Amino acid sequence: MYRTHNCGELSLKDIGKKVILSGWIQKIRNLGSLFFIDIRDYFGITQLIIYKKSVKKNISLGKEFIIQVKGKVVERLSKNYNIPTGEIEILVYHIDLLNSSLSPPFTIENQTDGNEEIRMIYRYLDIRRNPIKNNLMIRHNLALETRNFLSKNGFLEIETPVLINYTPEGARSFVVPSRTSPNKFYALAQSPQLFKQLLMIGGIDKYFQIVKCFRDEDSRSDRQIEFTQIDCEMSFVEVHDVLVFFEYFIKHIFKKIKNIQLNSFPCISYSEAIKMYGTDSPDIRFDMTFVELNDLVKREKINLLKTQELVIGIKIQKCHNIHDNDQINFFLKKIENKNFFWIKCLSNQTLPSSNINFLNEKNLKIFVKYFKALPGDLLFFSYGKKRKTREELGKIRLKIADFLNLKNSKTFQPLWITDLPLLEWEEQSKKYKSVHHPFTSPKEEDLHLLEKYPKNIRSKSYDLIINGIEIGSGSIRIHNKNIQNIIFKHLGLSQKEIEHRFGFFIKAFEYGVPPHGGIAFGLDRLVNLLEGNKNIKNFIAFPKNNYGKDIMTNAPSFLEKDKLKELHIR
Ligand code: AMO
Repeated sequence: MYRTHNCGELSLKDIGKKVILSGWIQKIRNLGSLFFIDIRDYFGITQLIIYKKSVKKNISLGKEFIIQVKGKVVERLSKNYNIPTGEIEILVYHIDLLNSSLSPPFTIENQTDGNEEIRMIYRYLDIRRNPIKNNLMIRHNLALETRNFLSKNGFLEIETPVLINYTPEGARSFVVPSRTSPNKFYALAQSPQLFKQLLMIGGIDKYFQIVKCFRDEDSRSDRQIEFTQIDCEMSFVEVHDVLVFFEYFIKHIFKKIKNIQLNSFPCISYSEAIKMYGTDSPDIRFDMTFVELNDLVKREKINLLKTQELVIGIKIQKCHNIHDNDQINFFLKKIENKNFFWIKCLSNQTLPSSNINFLNEKNLKIFVKYFKALPGDLLFFSYGKKRKTREELGKIRLKIADFLNLKNSKTFQPLWITDLPLLEWEEQSKKYKSVHHPFTSPKEEDLHLLEKYPKNIRSKSYDLIINGIEIGSGSIRIHNKNIQNIIFKHLGLSQKEIEHRFGFFIKAFEYGVPPHGGIAFGLDRLVNLLEGNKNIKNFIAFPKNNYGKDIMTNAPSFLEKDKLKELHIR
C-alpha cells in the first residue's frame, strides 16, 4: 500500500492516527538533529517532521524526490491557516525513497521563477504547480457541466472524423499525406461543420461534440492551431430558438462554474455594432458608444469637418487622472489614422485640445455643449472615410478603457451580434469570401439580392461576444440546394469544383434536408475568460507556442527520407 491518506486531507480530527503518505518533496528545512519536509501530491501539501535518530536509514533527499513515509499525525506548534493541513504535521518514523529527481529547472510552487519558455519545455513539471493544475481541473468541470447539460437537454454526443477532405472554411487547413493513395491528402478538420449538418440530414435531432479542431493560423493569446470547440447543431430551429437555448446554456455554465447569475444578453445587429463601437466584437463592460456628428458639423458649418464622409465622437467621463497632453497623445500612438482630435474639459472652464488649426474656441464649445460634457470629461473625435474612422475610434475606446481600468475581469457582459453580412469582397483574390462559412443561410428578406447584389445580403448568423471576446459563433444553415449552389458560385467555385469538393454534400440535399442551425463555442476561450482572460495556453495541458511549435516534443520536425518516400513526397 503506497498510502492510507493523500497529502491534502489530514486535519486536527486525525490527531493520533498512524498514516502512510506518498508524494514529491517540495521543500526541505534541515535543522541539524531534525528536519522538516513539505510533501506534495495532487491533493495538497503536508508537513513532515523527521528526527534523524528515529529514522534508521541513511538516505539523501532533494527537491522533487518521491518518498513514502509512515508516521503519526500530531498537532503543529506554529500553525499555517492558509492550507487545509496547516494545523497538523506527521511525526515520521519510517521513510522510503520511491524515486529520485534531478534538481528542477524552476521553482515548483504557486509563485515560480521559471519563464514561459522553460515551463513549456518542462510542462509536466509546470503541471505539478497549483495554478496550472487548478486550470486543468476547472477545464474538466466546464467540459463535464457541458456534457451533462446538453445531454439532459436531448443533445447526443457524436464523434465526427478528423481526417477529412479539404474544404474551404476560413482558415488554412493542415494536410496529411496518404500513404495508400499516392499524391493524395487528407485535411485535418477545421471544425465538424459539414458532418454535423449531415447528422441533421441523418435525422439526429440535436447533436453536440467536445471536439479538437485544427487551423493553420498564427497563434495569439486567444488562438491556438489545435483547439477545442463545444460544437452543437439542432434541427427545425430558427435564429431565435438557438439564441434562447444557448443563452440558457451559458447562464447555466456561469452559475455552476463561477456562481455568477448573468442578466439577459442584449442582442444587436452587426451594422449597429459597427456604428456604435467600430467593431463586430464590442466590449460592453463600459459604455462610450459613438455619437455621429455629421448633422451637427454641417449645421454649425465647422470647417473641414462639414465635408467629411463621417465624423464621430465619444465622451469619457471623469478622467480626472488624465492630466497632461502627453498622456492623451499616448492613446493616439500607433493609431494609423491621423484624423483625430480631442478636447478636455477643465474645471476652470478652459478647453485644452489637440493642436488642430481648423477648430476655434467657438467650435470647441459647440462640441462640449452637444456632449453635455462636465469638468473632468474628455472628448475624442475621429473623421474621414466611414470604415477607417470607426475602426480607429474603436481602438482608442479600448485603449482608454485599459488606461482607466474599466476592463474588470470579474465582470461579464455577454452580447449577441446578429445579421452579419453573408459575403465580403476580397480585393486581393477578386473573389467573394464567406463572412461565417459557405453553409450559412441568407436572411429571407435579402434573398432578392442573391444574384445581383450579394455583398448587401445579411445572413442568419450570430456571434456570442463576452467582454469583447468572440466566445461562440454559428448560423442557420442553407437547406435549399439551389441557394447553396449560388453561394458556391459567388465564392468562385466552378461547377466542377463544387462537384469535386462538395458532391457528397449536394447529393445529400436531394434527400430531404431539415431546416437546421447551430453554434460552436471555443472551450479554451470560455474557460480562459471565466478565469480572468490572460492566455488560453494556461488552460491547455500541452499547448503550442506562438509559432505553432511544441517546444517540449519539438514538433513539427523533419522526417527521414525513407518516411517521406513512403508518403510519396520526394
Ligand atoms: P468559428 O470558426 O467561428 O465557427 O469557431 C467557433 C468558435 O471557436 C473558437 N475558435 C478558436 N479558439 C481558439 N483558437 C482558435 N484558433 C479558434 N478559432 C475559433 C472561437 C469561435 O467563436 N463551424 C463553425 C460554427 C458553426 O457555424 O456552428 C465554426 O467553426 O470561440
